[in-house]
Amino acid sequence: PAQADDEFWLFGYGSLIWKPPPHFDRRIPGWVTGYVRRFWQASEDHRGTPEAPGRVVTLISRSYWEQLTDHHGSAPNKVWGVAYRIKPDRVAEVKEYLDIREINGYTIHYTPFHPARGGEPIQTLVYIGTPDNEQFVGPQDPQALAEHIYRSAGPSGLNRDYLWGLEAALDELSPESGDEHVTDLSNRVRAIAARDEKEKEREQIG
Ligand code: BEZ
Repeated sequence: PAQADDEFWLFGYGSLIWKPPPHFDRRIPGWVTGYVRRFWQASEDHRGTPEAPGRVVTLISRSYWEQLTDHHGSAPNKVWGVAYRIKPDRVAEVKEYLDIREINGYTIHYTPFHPARGGEPIQTLVYIGTPDNEQFVGPQDPQALAEHIYRSAGPSGLNRDYLWGLEAALDELSPESGDEHVTDLSNRVRAIAARDEKEKEREQIG
């Protein structure tokens, strides 16, 4: 492996891309395989509330995704994101914090991460909302999903800002780090926002 035994790395494919974890000393762009990123996880704690959950990303295993009758678009072979190395003297503290941190249905998994610059893969911890967790929503019609994101908000802010934040963060990683599912949803939500603006203007005039 590329890392020493006591090194601890975390892979982020969602908000972690632009909101780093505590106590990291390295951040490197790259990708993992075997997964598909989808906005199929409900968020009651960050981008929604228990009464009106928002939608955030999770990773679906590719074999599960392939069995679905409707794939909801294509999926790139690589799921781009960033790996963070936690400072050696903070590993115990951060591990304890991560283990006790129940994040709304996500469980801890490990997966090899491939640095964009090349070299040996790095073993990383990753949070995944698997299809058996209570917050897993599963396949949703893309337009209905966009409408849902448009009207959702939670303690961390507007659900649409999470979506657009992810789109912008992915754009910065590499010329090839785009994700069609994220871009398509972002475009749909922009169109809904423009429609809403026009309706408001009309109401003010009328
Ligand atoms: C992520 O950015 O990878 C992430 C953040 C919170 C929960 C699950 C995943």
